[in-house]
Amino acid sequence: MTWKAKLYLFVIYLVGLSIAFYAFSKLDKNILLIVILWVIIATPFEIKPIQVSTDWHYTLSFAIHLSLLIIYGSWIAITVAAFVTSIADLLGKKGPVKLIFNVSQFSITLYLTGTVYNLFKNRDIPFLLPDDLLAFICASLIYVVINTLLVAVIVALTSNRSVFYLLKRDARMVVMFFLSLVPISMLMVILYKEHHPLTMLLIIPPLAFTHTSFRNYASLKIETRKTLEILADFVDCRDRYTAEHSKRVAQYANLISEEMNLSDSDKELIELAGRVHDLGKITISDSILLKSGKLTGEEKKIVQSHPEVAYKILRPLQMYKRGSIIIRDHHERCDGKGYPRGLKDKSIHIGAKIIAVADAYDAMTSDRPYRKAMTKEEAIAELEANSGTQFDPGVVKAFINILKKRD
Ligand SMILES: [Fe+2]
Repeated sequence: MTWKAKLYLFVIYLVGLSIAFYAFSKLDKNILLIVILWVIIATPFEIKPIQVSTDWHYTLSFAIHLSLLIIYGSWIAITVAAFVTSIADLLGKKGPVKLIFNVSQFSITLYLTGTVYNLFKNRDIPFLLPDDLLAFICASLIYVVINTLLVAVIVALTSNRSVFYLLKRDARMVVMFFLSLVPISMLMVILYKEHHPLTMLLIIPPLAFTHTSFRNYASLKIETRKTLEILADFVDCRDRYTAEHSKRVAQYANLISEEMNLSDSDKELIELAGRVHDLGKITISDSILLKSGKLTGEEKKIVQSHPEVAYKILRPLQMYKRGSIIIRDHHERCDGKGYPRGLKDKSIHIGAKIIAVADAYDAMTSDRPYRKAMTKEEAIAELEANSGTQFDPGVVKAFINILKKRD
């Protein structure tokens, strides 16, 4: 962990835990039962978070936190959040660093949310609509912004990506997630204020349904990616000479993108595409794919159809929409002599050019039935000899820089 990440954690721990302990000290014993009840209700949601992407987990705590804050005030909401998070993280064996960070960030988020809510709230009356609608909306916004920012900063600091990129990448899902919870939270407050306090518990079943729907949607995306990567690995494993090929190509592609200073979003796109770039070979029979002799004209045509096949498989999937073009074009050449479309230099996506170099290097440095693996120096010489014709000169230069740095 970098010193910046350590400093950030230290500040969040210091501020967050101070708020949490102060909230705990202000706790009225008469309200202890309510705290225990909400800890019991909220903990199951926190134990099974919704994985929005590889970096983001969300839970439905937002709806519960906000309702408790409006009904009982910030200190009770912070105390419930601290207990729920601690129990869930202990059961999930997340370790002390994550546990203390989660407790701290919820404490800071709720404290600031409470401050903003009280700033806009009509103090003469208890929560009343429509008078306090503005206060409710402002409080919701502050919660979402602070909560997301506090987490985004630590993810960015520990994964070498920018906060802006992380927020932009998952903005749609995050906004959709929180928007669906604002009315639920408001309904809980209305039921509490205008009916019997226990009627707000009626919201728990729809909340659980929302939770399950989001979990299913999020896991479907992740499972789709995993399934396609497993299929790509199967293609590699059909030939003992190409085992792990796609994984290595994705790693090389990531290093080249880094060396070429591409944006975080392009880096991720190219790595994702590299991981499944040969998926289209799934339709090629073993007699052709594993043939050690020379391919006939017809067999060559079948092999060369694999980028288009992968494109057709991946194009309909939202996650691979942009990446499928890179995969379709990874055998194109700068001089226009590649396949399947014979595209020329400027019409080829930089990602396809990067995968072409990574793919060729890995093929050259792996054993094949008809030849031994080339040495690194021989492969570099081959890349240089074909720079400007087959390969993009900028990509070749960046990759050779990386290979030389590794010596
Ligand atoms: Fe290929």
